[in-house]
Amino acid sequence: MKKILIATDKPFSKPAVQAIQDVIKEAGYESVLLEKYSSASEFHKAAADVDAIIIRSDVVDKEVIKAAKNLKIVVRAGAGYDNVDLAAASERGIVVMNTPGQNSNAVAELVFGMLVYLNRGGFDGSSGTELRNKKIGIHAYGYVGRIVALIAKGFGMKVYAHDPFVDRVIIENDGVKWEESAAEMYSKCQYVSLHIPANKQTKETINFELLNSMPEGATLVNTARKEVIHEPSLIKMFEQRDDFRYATDIEPDCKEQLAKYKGRYFATPKKMGAQTAEANLNAGVAAARQIINFLDKGDTTFQVNK
Ligand code: 3PG
Repeated sequence: MKKILIATDKPFSKPAVQAIQDVIKEAGYESVLLEKYSSASEFHKAAADVDAIIIRSDVVDKEVIKAAKNLKIVVRAGAGYDNVDLAAASERGIVVMNTPGQNSNAVAELVFGMLVYLNRGGFDGSSGTELRNKKIGIHAYGYVGRIVALIAKGFGMKVYAHDPFVDRVIIENDGVKWEESAAEMYSKCQYVSLHIPANKQTKETINFELLNSMPEGATLVNTARKEVIHEPSLIKMFEQRDDFRYATDIEPDCKEQLAKYKGRYFATPKKMGAQTAEANLNAGVAAARQIINFLDKGDTTFQVNK
């Protein structure tokens, strides 16, 4: 019987795990669960004889691929797959997929949770500010960005978006102002929400020039990846502009240097954007179904490697 490993250092909710296991069982496959593992070797051991793996931000590198002798498919239950060595997987003919859109609402809601938190001084009792009538720039208009736009409108914000890979018409049809360049958008918007993936092209592209062009009260919210930020620029922004604020779902490497900017800097203790019962269920079950469709019918929809 083929085996599907659910390897999640940050576990899914219990009902989500149950639902994933039920889907796997119903399809006639066996599930193996590895949660909160303490070392990579534990992961290697669990992966040794499985045909498929469901992961979250768990790292699937050359070592995992080498250890997983029977591996045919890895599905990242979520959006970003920068934690998977695609080249190493392709070399072995292993299919890698993500589950686009399945956890987007959870991430988009957290954007506003963090913005309101910052705007109200971390709920310290001082007089805060509101989001209504303020401009928000959405950097990348994918699944999460689109929901951020929708929620921002509910808050009465003026919504802008920049995404070189999305047609202008799609953005404008949503009643969102299209921005040709990131620079233009940052220079207009007090609030910017990041939704770009981490890759060679985006690495450290959010730099001092872009951030410093933001108007008074400049507030950056990052639920994407820490790698897209040029951290020396982030530190410089805090040092040079006492109006600058940064909220993030992914602690930066320079977190110790930012800790002193209480009220202006906020990071969730763990990456929590996709950590809701609904997102766990949607992404986890989608991952299981994609694996079954691939193993049963060779369906490669959502494959991200060649
Ligand atoms: C994603 O890329 O889907 C999000 O960053 C969520 O990551 P997580 O599954 O590790 O919470």
